[in-house]
Order: sequence, then C-alpha cells, then structure tokens
Amino acid sequence: MDIETLKINISTTPAFVLDEEELSRSLGILSQLRQQSGVKALYSIKSLPLYRVLELAKPFVDGFSASSLFEAQLAKEILAGTGSIHLTTPGINFAELDQLLATVSHLSFNSLSQLQRYQEQNRLPSASIGLRVNPQLSYLDDDRYNPCRLHSKLGVPVDDLWQTTALNHVQGLHLHTVFACQDYRPLTDSIAKLLNYFGKNLKNLEWINLGGGYLFNHISNHQPFVELVGQLNKDYGLTVYVEPGKAIVGDAGYLVASVIDCFNSGGKAIAVLDSSVNHHPEVFEYGWRPELHEHAANGDYPAILAGCSCLAGDLFGEYRFKAPLHVGDRVVFKNMGAYSLVKASRFNGINLPTIYGLQVGRLNKLKDYSYQDYRQQWLTDH
Ligand SMILES: Cc1ncc(COP(=O)(O)O)c(C=O)c1O
Repeated sequence: MDIETLKINISTTPAFVLDEEELSRSLGILSQLRQQSGVKALYSIKSLPLYRVLELAKPFVDGFSASSLFEAQLAKEILAGTGSIHLTTPGINFAELDQLLATVSHLSFNSLSQLQRYQEQNRLPSASIGLRVNPQLSYLDDDRYNPCRLHSKLGVPVDDLWQTTALNHVQGLHLHTVFACQDYRPLTDSIAKLLNYFGKNLKNLEWINLGGGYLFNHISNHQPFVELVGQLNKDYGLTVYVEPGKAIVGDAGYLVASVIDCFNSGGKAIAVLDSSVNHHPEVFEYGWRPELHEHAANGDYPAILAGCSCLAGDLFGEYRFKAPLHVGDRVVFKNMGAYSLVKASRFNGINLPTIYGLQVGRLNKLKDYSYQDYRQQWLTDH
C-alpha cells in the first residue's frame, strides 16, 4: 500500500503505523549480514518494544538486547528460551541484581565500581559477565547522544581499563559509540584501538558486543564489517554480537496526523496538527525536523507544522507544499519507527497515537487508547 492510500484508509489520527513489509526488509538485510559475517544479531528493544515487532523479529535474530529489568522480562517472555538476552545500563540497581541475573544471558557492567560490587558478592555465576568499554573515540557532534563525550558516564574509559586487571574477571566486552551511522569506520577504528591496547588478552574473553548505532540497512559496502567480524572470530576466538535498534525499526514506522487548524502568524502559515512532539519527543529534544512525505522542496506554499500542546516550541518544523494546507488534510512523518512511540507521553491530555500494522495491502488496527487509559495512568491507589 502506498502512502497516499494509507492516508485515506486510516480511520483515526494521530496514528502510528508499523510497516511490516519494511520491517521484514530490514530484518532480511540483517539476516544476510549474519550469514555473510557470522555475527550474532540482537534486536535492541529500547527503540520500539511493541509486542508485534518483537514477535516478527524473533525468527530473524539471535536474541534481544535490553537496558532494564522490564525490557529484559519482556524479551524473556517473547524468546521463551530460544535466544540470548544481553543487558547493559548505567542504571543497574543492585536491589534487582538477583532478578536481572535470572532473566538475562549476558550482563555487561557499565563501570569498574559496578563490577567490583558484583565480585564482592561472591555469587555463583549465572549470566555471562561482561564490561562496557568506552574506546574514547568520538564520532558525534552533539554530546547529548555521544557515548564517548568527555567525562562520559557510559562504559569504562579505555585509558583507565587498560591499567586494571578487570578483563581477567569477565567473559565479554561491550562497546556502543555511535548513532545512525552509515559507515563502519568508527567501528573498525574503535576495534583497532582496543586491539592495540589489549592485544592477545582479548583471546581470554568469550564474546564481544559491538553495540548498536549502525544503519545496516542503509550501508551498501559491508565488506569492512564482514572482515572485522571474521578477524575477531578467527584471530581472537570471540563470538561477535551486534544490537541494532533503529536499523531494524526506524524506516518501518510512520506517524499520520490531521490538520485541525490553519492560520497566519507574523506572516507565516501555521497548520496545527492533532499530533504533538509528545509523539516524537526527539523532535523537540534535539531540534530535528522529521522527514515529511508531503514536503516538496519547490512547493509554493510554506507552512509551519505545529503540535497541538500548549508548549510554544511544540513544532515539527517548516515545510513546503504544492497546495495550501486545509483543515482535514493528512500528513505523514516518515522514519518514525525508533525512539518515537516508546518515548511518547500524554502531556496536555493529548491521546497516544492509535497503532496500526500495515501488511501487504492490509491495514490492521493493533491498539488504541481511550480516556479510560489516560484516567488509569493518573488514578492513585490511595
Ligand atoms: C547500549 C546500546 N545498544 C544498542 C542501542 C541501539 O542503538 P540504535 O537504535 O541506534 O541501533 C543503544 C541505543 O541507545 C544503546 O545505548
């Protein structure tokens, strides 16, 4: 179904549409990469933990990666013993450690102090234990999402790790350093740096998790990745994992919204939508202008698409259209699969988007929310 037909067939907006064909496409690319390179792929469920996505992804991956106990529990429920569950987070709460270790297969501590506390407890090993390393090579301009920023809280800086014996006490290493990256250079550079620091000592480990952040589905030359995984497999005997999120679901999500008001403000056309940055907070957090299906670079009719909350900065951005927008028109934001719905809130009492699944030529309503759901969220027990 093309996007114009989709717009007509949606019964309720705002709507989040999971494009299941697109999801299959990205999962297919990942499967090929698994076969070509021998890498093990985990879906990073933080990007979109929608049950339907987890079920569809399950046959194509070697497991899931999680960043909290709840995510790990959801992963375990879906996998039902058929795959690995990797977890790393700066937020390990030792009060939950028993439950975490009983739920995941691999747990990478984020700091030397986390690892030390774990060792002091003298537990019988259950999950395979790893450590997150920060290779201290930055590839992102915006420090808000740069794991290798100065004074980073994510992973043990390699300069510090190198001076300890911590690697003797773990079975694996974890790194995650980029976001939406479309070439493998940061990865090959980071691994080269780690090999330079640790060399043959890496042979004492069992696995390495290269994290997420790479858009496998938008990279045409996978050769550097295939060679890297081969080298880590053969020369160091390591099982190599990746844990992409956005590469799997990013392109598979649309946000469909309707125009509910049009007016002029200070000489610019404003179109207010029945959606809001509530439904994609990263638009506000990072000042991003999401990709819009209707945008025509040479369109004669510019308009600012505004969200319907009270927040002055609740704006999707200025776009150009071939015809003036009217109340009732629908617009479709693309590339909304990752980090949108999972971060959505009901600020201002604006409802969450209705969720649809788009299969070959068919649109299925998967879930909708009502006033009762809103009320339930804010009801107190006492
Ligand atoms: C440790 C870790 N692994 C994997 C991911 C998934 O990254 P992406 O969705 O960019 O592939 C993230 C994202 O923040 C992460 O922090």
